[in-house]
Formats: sequence, structure tokens, C-alpha cells
Amino acid sequence: MLDFDYYNPTQLVFGANRLAELDKLVPAKAKVLITYGGQSAKKFGTIDAVKDALGSRDVFEFGGIEANPEYDTLVQATALVKTEGIDFLLAVGGGSVMDGTKFIAIAAKHQGEEYQSILQHGFAPVPTSSAVPLGCVVTLPATGSEANMFGVVTLGGHKLPFMSPTVYPKFSFLDPELTKTLPTEQIANGVADAFVHVIEQYLTYPVNAKVQDRIAEGVLKTLIEDGPVTYRNPDDMDARKNFIWSATTALNGSIGAGMPADWSTHMIGHELTAQYGIAHGRTLTLVLPSLLRERKDKKAAKLLQYAERVWDISQGSDDEKIEQAIAKTEAFFNSLDIVTNLTHYGIDDDGIESVVASLEKLGMTALSETGDLTLDIVRKILHAAK
Ligand code: NZQ
Ligand code: ZN
Repeated sequence: MLDFDYYNPTQLVFGANRLAELDKLVPAKAKVLITYGGQSAKKFGTIDAVKDALGSRDVFEFGGIEANPEYDTLVQATALVKTEGIDFLLAVGGGSVMDGTKFIAIAAKHQGEEYQSILQHGFAPVPTSSAVPLGCVVTLPATGSEANMFGVVTLGGHKLPFMSPTVYPKFSFLDPELTKTLPTEQIANGVADAFVHVIEQYLTYPVNAKVQDRIAEGVLKTLIEDGPVTYRNPDDMDARKNFIWSATTALNGSIGAGMPADWSTHMIGHELTAQYGIAHGRTLTLVLPSLLRERKDKKAAKLLQYAERVWDISQGSDDEKIEQAIAKTEAFFNSLDIVTNLTHYGIDDDGIESVVASLEKLGMTALSETGDLTLDIVRKILHAAK
């Protein structure tokens, strides 16, 4: 196991119809800005329920945070935070709203000319000592943003990640009832996203981190079992709860502590969203199967463990087991009606070159757990994904 520091201060409030408890968790004298997305939180009554729970507090609203939140929109919200003297942010939505709110939380402590620099540090912490405190009401289980310090914001046509321990939510509500209005394709996206979050922290090389490995395998097995049930049967609340907790566990830092990680699928996937508007979870399923095949030799030991422990494959040579596991992974995505080839989205050879060029522009020329996944290999992976 590698050395690690693990810190996660977010209080998680799990269960149906508990929004009234916001009253205990948001400071009594707070001036609150509720942030939300397009319309879903408003339309389905969640914003009203949140406002009821906040009682007589001074409450403002900022709606219109897009899927894959845009920098310019978040700058508008930041201006509101500053002019109204907001001192608590409450994100009501999925990953986009939560991430956008994290950005606003940091930006509000900076001058306008410094905002863009928040997005220039990638996976190194933003050099900031404070942020406006925030909480989340999760309406879409997928990203794990509700219990981590990461965010992704779109600026200049690129999806740019940022991180800071100052933006761990103070609390997050995980209410399964709030997710019942999700269209089924968003459930599929969420299952895929959570699955790939686990894979990217698990499928690298062995470091004998038994607890992390076994939790990761448990989360993957749960997603394989209960993801499709939630997708097909919206009323199965037991499956839904297990899916929701899987998504949070996948990216709250616990399974990644002491582990090498390979975020290549995410970095390539982000470009597919930025350039072709494909939903985040779906982009990952386009990249992952080909990436695993291309990197089979480097990841052989963990791929074999994955085959045997996650997919219970016991027959065949090591190579055959690994190929079966990759095929089953892709079939799992397909079972959620996710199409896993680029051609389906109209991405041709020029499109692939455009993704490669964009990664080059962002300096992402040495991806993977060992920093040896070059742009030529990205190109090969994407061609294999056609
Ligand atoms: O905008 P509204 O009208 O609310 O509709 C949203 C949105 O269109 C809808 N939705 C959300 N909750 C709903 C609902 N519709 C009906 N009922 C509900 N209860 O779902 C659509 C997608 O929402 P979005 O928040 O964009 O999805 P998701 O949660 O998948 O978040 C994706 C974003 O998270 C980033 C992605 O890059 C992307 O920008 N990520 C953040 C991470 C993190 N913070 O750790 C890690 C991830 O890997 C990911 O990169
Ligand atoms: Zn993701």
C-alpha cells in the first residue's frame, strides 16, 4: 500500500424525506444562496422543500447552471454571492450543480481577474485558504461530488478539473426519493460513471492494498447487481439505495487512498463531452474497453484479479480470463442501453485527431498510473473504439 493522508469531513444524511433536517445543518443566521440546474429541481418541488426547511433565513436562488457547468454562468453566480453578502451555498442537483457551486465557493473569495486561475492547477490543490461553506442536496447519484473535493468546469471549450480541501461539502443529503424523477438514461450514465470511478482507482498495478481492493470489488459487484435493477425498475428502492451509496463510495477518497490511479479514461472522456456533447458517463464507456485492451500487459495482474473476483471467471488461460472480463464490462454497459462505439456518435478519424490535438493543447501527453500513456496510444485506443 502506498502512503496516504485521508481526510473527508462531509456529513452524509442518507434517507428519504429528511430535508427538514437542513434546518439543523445550515447555520441559523446564514444568508443562503440555493444553486440549481435547468429546471428539474424547481419543477419537481425540491427547491420549495429546501426553502421550507430553511425557514426564516435570508434565501436567494441562482438557477440555470448547465450540465457540464460553464465558467461564465458561474461567474454570474459569484457576483450575486458578493453583492448580497451570501455566506452559505446550497447546491441542489447533480454533479454539474455541485461542481459549479464548489467553483463559486472559491471564486467568491477572489478577485474577478483571478477566477480563471482556479482552473489552472488540474489535480494539484487550488492555492486558496478559504471558500464559502457549502452543502448539497443530491438529485443525481453519479459523480461522488457530494463527498469529495473535486470539480470540473467548462471554459473555452475544455472541461477543466480543479480540487481543494476547502470545498468539501459540510453535508450532503442523499435522498433516494429525489432521484425517482431521473430519466432512465441518467440512471445508466450514473451507474457507468460510478463504475469507471472505481475501475480507475482499482485497475492499475498491485500494491497489496487489501481493504481498498475488496471494497472496490464490492462496489463494482453492487453496481453490476443493482445498477440494471434501478435502470429497469424505478420502484425498487432497495436497489436504488445501494446504487446511490455505491456512487458516493466510488469517489469519496476511501477506495483511492494508498492506491495508484489511472484517470486516462476520464481525461479522454472529458474531451468527448467538450467536443461532441456526449454525457459524461457515456464518454467513459466509449473509452474504457479499448483502453483496457490496449493496456492489458501493464494491468495484467489486476485485470486477472478483476476477472476472477468481480466477474467470477474461473475458466481459461489468464489471457482468456482477461479478455472475457473486458467483454463482460462492455456488455454490462450495453445492458444499460449504452452504445459503446464512436461511430454511433458520428466521430470519425478527423474527430479522433481533434480529441488528440485538444489533449496535446492541455498538456495531457503523459497519462496513466505510470505517466506513459502517450498521445499515440490515445489515438490507438480511440481508433479501436470506432
Ligand atoms: O439541469 P436540470 O434540469 O436539473 O437537469 C439535470 C441535467 O440535465 C438532470 N437531473 C438532475 N437531477 C434530476 C434530473 N432530472 C430529473 N430528475 C432529477 N432528480 O440530469 C442532467 C444531468 O445532470 P448533471 O449534474 O450534469 O449530471 P452528473 O451528475 O452526471 O454530473 C456530470 C458533471 O460532473 C462532472 C462531469 O464532468 C460533469 O460536468 N464530474 C464531477 C466529478 C467530481 N466532482 O468528482 C467527477 C466526475 O468524474 C465528473 O467528471
Ligand atoms: Zn466521472
